[in-house]
This record gives sequence, C-alpha cells and structure tokens, in this order.
Amino acid sequence: MKLLVIGSGGREHTLVWKLRQEEPDAQIFAAPGNGGTMSLAESVALTVDQIDGLADFAESRQIDLTVVGPEAPLAAGIVDLFQERGLAIFGPSKAAAEIESSKAFAKEVMQKAGIPTAPHRTFNDFPEAQSYIRERGAPIVVKASGLAAGKGAIVCRTADEAVDAARSMLIEQRFGSAGATVVVEDFLSGEELSVLVITDGEAAQPLAASQDHKPIGEGDAGPNTGGMGAYAPVSIADDSMIARVMETIVLPTLAEMKTQGRTYRGVLYCGLTVVEGEPFVIEFNCRFGDPETQAVLPITDSPLLPVFGRIARGETIEDLRLATTSRSAVCTVLASAGYPGSYSKGHTILIPESIQDDPGLLVFHAGTALDPEGGMITAGGRVLSVVGLGANATEAARKSKEAAEAIQFEGKYFRRDIGFREIERERSR
Ligand code: AMP
Ligand code: GLY
Repeated sequence: MKLLVIGSGGREHTLVWKLRQEEPDAQIFAAPGNGGTMSLAESVALTVDQIDGLADFAESRQIDLTVVGPEAPLAAGIVDLFQERGLAIFGPSKAAAEIESSKAFAKEVMQKAGIPTAPHRTFNDFPEAQSYIRERGAPIVVKASGLAAGKGAIVCRTADEAVDAARSMLIEQRFGSAGATVVVEDFLSGEELSVLVITDGEAAQPLAASQDHKPIGEGDAGPNTGGMGAYAPVSIADDSMIARVMETIVLPTLAEMKTQGRTYRGVLYCGLTVVEGEPFVIEFNCRFGDPETQAVLPITDSPLLPVFGRIARGETIEDLRLATTSRSAVCTVLASAGYPGSYSKGHTILIPESIQDDPGLLVFHAGTALDPEGGMITAGGRVLSVVGLGANATEAARKSKEAAEAIQFEGKYFRRDIGFREIERERSR
C-alpha cells in the first residue's frame, strides 16, 4: 500500500501519524512534509502548488491513495486533475471546493438551502458596500470572498472600521483578487464550534466536535492567527446538537451542492457559532481544520483510511459510523515570538525524551526543519502542536501545558489557556 499526504503543517503530520497507526507496513510519502513527518513518511520535494508534479509523482510511484491537507491545491483543482489521470484522491473537486474558496458562493448555497447563517450582502463596488454598512450599523463583519489564509474576515466594532475594511479590500486591493468581491454580514455572538464531517456527497459522518482558539492572546485577546490551540470533544456539542447540525446544516448543504452538479466528497469543515442553543454557519472549509485535526484525530477510534478510500472510489459511506474514544484531547500550539507578525527562524528545538515516551502526549510538527548540523530547528510561525490526552479537558490541558513548558526553543510563545471554556464547564459541573 502506497499513500501520499499533501501539505506541511501540523494537520498533515497528524494525518500521516493516523495513517501510519492504521497501516504500519504502508509506504507513506509526504509532499513536502516537515521535520516531524520525516520519521513516519518519506519527504517528497514538491510544494502544494505543484499539482502537475504531484500527479506525475503519484502516477510514477503508483500511489494507491492521495490525501490533501490544505485548501489551495483543492481550489486549484488537484482532485479533478488526479481523477482525469485515473489516480485515487480524497478531497472535493474544484467546483465543490468553492464552498471555501468563494465566500460569496458559500453564502449563496446557504441561502438556497435555507441554512441558518448571518444575514449578508455581497459587493464588488465600494460605494454600495459603504452605504449598506452605514444602513446596517455595527458590529458587522467584512470578509474578502476569496482565499486569504484565514486573515480575510474582519470583525468590526464600528461602522467606520467596517467602511475602512471594505475600502482596503475593494479599492486598495489589500487582499488582491481575493478581496475583489466582499461579503458583509451581521455579527453573530456566541460560542464557536468546529464540526468536521466526512462525506461521500450524500451521507456524512461527523468526527468529534472541536473548538479552535484563533486570537494570539490568552482570553481570546489580540489579532487572529491560523489557530493557537484546540480541544475535542466539546460538551456543548452533545448528541442532540450534532443531530441538529446534521439535519439543519450538513445534509441540506450537501443536497444543494449535488443539485448544482458540485457533489461534495471529502471533509466538510463547518465553522459554527452557537447562538442561544442554535448552530449558525460562520464559514465552510473544504478540508480538515488546523489545529482542530491535531485534537480530533488522536481521539478518533475508527480507521479513516478505508473511509477515505471508499469516498475516493465514489462509493457510499451510508452504512458507516465513526467511533470516538471517551478521552479528551487538548492541543497547544507553540509559536515563534512575533507571530502572526514577523518572527525569526532557525532556532534549535529541544523536546525532552520524557515527552516523546509519554503515551498521554503527542507532538506534531508544523514549522520545523532538520538542522543540517543535527536535530530540529524552527522554520515557521506555528512551530509545534503539543497534544495532551486525558479523561477530561482539565486533565488533557494540564498535560499539554506542562509539555509546552518543557519544550524549548528561543522565542517560544504559547497560550496557557487552551480549552478554558470547557475547563470552566467541568469546574462548575
Ligand atoms: P472566517 O474566516 O469566516 O472563519 O472568520 C474568521 C473568524 O472571524 C471566525 O472564526 C469568527 O471568530 C469571526 N467571524 C466571522 N464571521 C463572523 C460573524 N458573522 N459573526 C461573528 N464573528 C465572525
Ligand atoms: N482552524 C481554522 C481552520 O482550519 O481554518
């Protein structure tokens, strides 16, 4: 069995780790991979935007299944390309991936399917956006419609701020073509939830619900990042909440996508906000979340490879159920000082052996590289994901935080409060 995982983040290290557990004898490749995937998979010197090169590689090496981590190659049509060449790949087609690559399209789908989401309008013209913002008032959210590496949504406390945000996108073109269309939507106040479902286009199976921590600072202060930590499961996402998400959001969205000739196969990431007990969609992503995956896959009991394989072959997963262990996972991201702004690289990383040997801890790499002189060095803004496992979030968070303290590199920064909402709920139970 030969497998290829595309991407280089903590999410991809986690996918490689899960596949390696399921298939100890498989030959696994990671393109391009990172300092952590190296011990589990062979690194391939191809970046995620080299989709023709990746298809050539998969063909020449007779890869049995390719799994795509990030959105960019999906939006560029990697799945269509592989399928045209008869190569098995898990992920949505380019037309289906538009659910993430065009927020304007995603809102249109939601409107047609009657999905609970914030009221919105879409604009290509600044004066029209400006008058809508003035009329609607604040708080209000201005979003670049296209892919903007998680930085395209601006939550505005005043109408002036929102007008500035719309101007920066539509006139100053700060997000390039991604900001040529802008979605302006009402602010929704509630607790956020990430529900990842695996789908064959009709039937869908949820993984354990998780919660990201996007802002850089403790207590959710400061600017948004790619994600500073996550935990799973989330107690507010009980069986009845998940049933509600499936019934009011996932299944009607999949049905609408199918009606439009854009059958959605792969992982559908539902970014939700729970408002007075009801789930609303904030965004859809066409892939696994990062850092949610680092918390969710370690507590996923069921093997995923057979599910990915079935979906890649166009088979149904209707008869399938995904099981989760009864443990909790908390993932703390260790970042380089300065992130999400500028930061330095090349610092030696020291991970104590006691951490590597602890079955209750997992360390997934993101921005790491091999030091030519031996060992690992930092090579990105988010460096490591440190996952603690425990009987509940309190215990898992303690493990994760202790390990985060013990790992060393110059300029290490991390949030010490990952999982704080769940820990508070556990305390008051
Ligand atoms: P997005 O890129 O659409 O996921 O937005 C990034 C972040 O902005 C979300 O995780 C939320 O924290 C926030 N956000 C986006 N849309 C809204 C909204 N309508 N109401 C409140 N917060 C939002
Ligand atoms: N954790 C947010 C994302 O993956 O988009």
